[in-house]
Order: sequence, then C-alpha cells, then structure tokens
Amino acid sequence: MSGMVVHGAQWGDEGKGKIVDLLTEQANMIVRFHGGNNAGHTLVVGGEKTVLHLIPSGILHPGKRCVIGNGVVLDPEVFLAEVDKLGATGLDVSPGRLAVSYRTHVITTYHKLLDQARESALRSGKIGTTGRGIGPAYEDKAARVGIRAGDFLDEKLLAVKLKRALAEKNALLAGLYGMEPLDASKLLEEFLPLARRVAPYVTDCPALIQKAYESGQRVLFEGAQGTHLDIDHGTYPFVTSSCCLSGNAGPGSGSSPRYLDTVVSVVKAYTTRVGSGPFPTELGCVIGEHLQSVGAEFGATTGRKRRCGWLDMVLLRESVRLNGTTELAITKLDVLSGLTEIKICVAYKHKGGQVLYPPQEENALEGVQPVYETMPGWPGDIGSCRAWGDLPAEARDYLLRLEELSGAPIGIVSVGPDRAQTLRKS
Ligand code: IMP
Repeated sequence: MSGMVVHGAQWGDEGKGKIVDLLTEQANMIVRFHGGNNAGHTLVVGGEKTVLHLIPSGILHPGKRCVIGNGVVLDPEVFLAEVDKLGATGLDVSPGRLAVSYRTHVITTYHKLLDQARESALRSGKIGTTGRGIGPAYEDKAARVGIRAGDFLDEKLLAVKLKRALAEKNALLAGLYGMEPLDASKLLEEFLPLARRVAPYVTDCPALIQKAYESGQRVLFEGAQGTHLDIDHGTYPFVTSSCCLSGNAGPGSGSSPRYLDTVVSVVKAYTTRVGSGPFPTELGCVIGEHLQSVGAEFGATTGRKRRCGWLDMVLLRESVRLNGTTELAITKLDVLSGLTEIKICVAYKHKGGQVLYPPQEENALEGVQPVYETMPGWPGDIGSCRAWGDLPAEARDYLLRLEELSGAPIGIVSVGPDRAQTLRKS
C-alpha cells in the first residue's frame, strides 16, 4: 500500500501546508482531492513565504508530480495565475508535471457572482463563505449541469454547455438578485483563452495515480479545509460544500481506497475558525486576542481575522473517529508559549449531562458548554526545539494529554512556520 492522506482535523487553517510540504519528501506524487481556491496554504521555506490556493504545495519540490483531482472545483483564472507565478520563479509547471482531471468541475463568473449575491442577500445566518464560487460550482456538479475541465478539449460542446447553464443562472442573477444578466457570447469570449491554456493540463488522473502505485511510488493526498467544515459531518449549515474527510481521497481523485495506509490528521495546538458558525471554546477575552496576534491568525485566502479558542478534544475525538487517524501532526505549539495556564476542552455539558462526542442535532453546538481541564503553561520560546526532549516538560505533558484524550499518537510537532522548525515525537 502506498497512499497517505494529510487532512485538517478542525475548521481548516491547521497548518496543513507545512505538514504536506514536509511529508512530500516521502512522496512521488501529490494529489488534491476536494475544495478549490477557498483553501490557502502558506509555506515558509528558508524564510521565503509562498501562498498557494489551488496547485498542490508539492510543486515547490522539483521532480514531484502534482495532480488536481476530480473532487476539486477549479477556477481557471486562479489556476493560471498560480502557474504563471510559480513559473516565473523558475519552477517546472509544465503539463508533464502538473495534471488536472478531465472530471474536475470548473468555476466560472456566474458561480462567483451567485456566491457573493447570495451571501449579501442573507441578513442573518450568513455562512461567511470565501466568495470564490465554491458552493455554486458544487451545486452544478450535483445538478449535473456543471462544466468540467474535459470540456475544454471540445470548444463547441463548451459553448453549448455555457449557454445552457447561463439561461438558468441569469434567471437567478437578474430575477432574484437584481443583477445585470451575463451575455453568453461575451462570457465565452472571456472564457475560451483560459480554457485553451488549461486544456494541455487535462489528463486521465485515475490512470496516472494507478500507474504511480504500480511502479511502487508513494502518493500523498493533500486535504483542504477541515473535518468540521465537511458538508455532511461538519457544523452544517456553516460548512463548505465538499467532503473534507480522509475517505474522500479515493472518490475525489479516482484512487482506490485500498491503497491508503496512512492518515495524518493536522491539528493546531489551539482552535481557530473563520466565517460564521458555532465555536464552543471560542475566547472573547485577551487570551483569544493573544492567540490571534501571536499566531498571526488571518485567513490566507480572505485576510479575515480568525476567531480563536482553546483546543477542543470533543471535536478532535470526532475527527479521529471519522478520518481513521494513524498519526497526529500538532502545529503552532510555539503560539502557546508564555501562557501561565492552558485549558483543554475534554467534554461538553449537554442536556444536563456530559458528552465526549459532538451531539448530532443541527446547531447543537450552539447550546453546549465546554468542560475544561487546566494544565500549566511554559515560559520562553520553543521555536528552536528540534527534538522531543528539547521541549519543556509542561509542553510535553500537554501533548501527552492530547494523545490520551484523542486516542491517536502524535507523530510530528511544529514549533514555528519554517520547514526546519519541526520535530518528531518518536
Ligand atoms: P466556502 O468554502 O467559500 O463556501 O465557505 C464556507 C465556509 O468554509 C466559510 O465559513 C469559510 O470561511 C470556510 N472555509 C472555506 N475554506 C476554508 C479554508 O481553507 N480554511 C478555513 N475556512 C474555510
């Protein structure tokens, strides 16, 4: 078996980019399997920062093959801007190295307009989407009216599909949201140059992945967002529109699940969330502000301030259960340095009792109260620790308690943004 999934165990922004970047050294091919440019992976290598939204971060490692799977929704404009930006630094971003599945759904102008119009029309109950057209593109996929990257190879078919979709979209844009309808020929005129540039990247990705397995290669599946933003198992309706669980690495790419042997669940040492929705351990006090500023908690995609709170083991336990975690990667432990005490939410008070897993009813998380355990903090900077034994005893105790409460072993601990600021527990 030779497939490894790296995914977010919270509400996204766990620092997956850095962990994927580290583990890429063990892989030959890196595959994205869901989400779109609502994601944002910030990588710091040798002090240099790169933010990627769509192209797998494995592209920064020469010689690694990168794949955008069918489970992704691809904005051609964003894809090409990343190709150009990376290409300008001298990286190989040719179709020989970077592939897009025939079956990857495409985000167009009307998806973005609808996403934004819908959000601004909602007075209360806004989801706080990234406004990138993600939800509307997945809706079209389910409604079987989507445009797929494979359609870029047949311009006549592409024109027919765009025109047909636009009739319905214009009814919504103009009729419901009072916007100017889009003109089909103008849209096609704008879209065709993009389609022509993406077309050479379109590849039979399931075959590519299978071939990699058969030749003994290791494939890394790079998750986006996080478990509690999952369309089914997240805090619905405050979720994204794709399946964010490790299990989607198979259907989202065309890989057989039989090959998946490792699931690395990435967890921030505290919790953050962007956008709306319940957040039981959110800190409205100075400690929340401290985490936000020390952790530089701003969304990599929208620049919004992230909401911050203590680590929530109820949510993490659920993540371990849903994803089949084989190891945890703990990120941003250094951000907790200097706090006198650190709290961990070990259970919720719910309906007069205590629960260890999130209640299943919609919006139940709005009404739960966290039950905290308090642990001592540690003074000083831990950014230069490179081995488990270098960490202060209190930091090690905190991590050991996380293992105990989550039921999953810790593999990697990150103590700063740079690739080098990482240690392995074992
Ligand atoms: P959408 O994915 O743009 O539809 O947004 C739906 C929800 O998911 C919003 O609350 C977003 O803030 C959140 N979201 C989407 N992508 C990410 C991400 O990569 N990190 C964190 N939150 C995200």
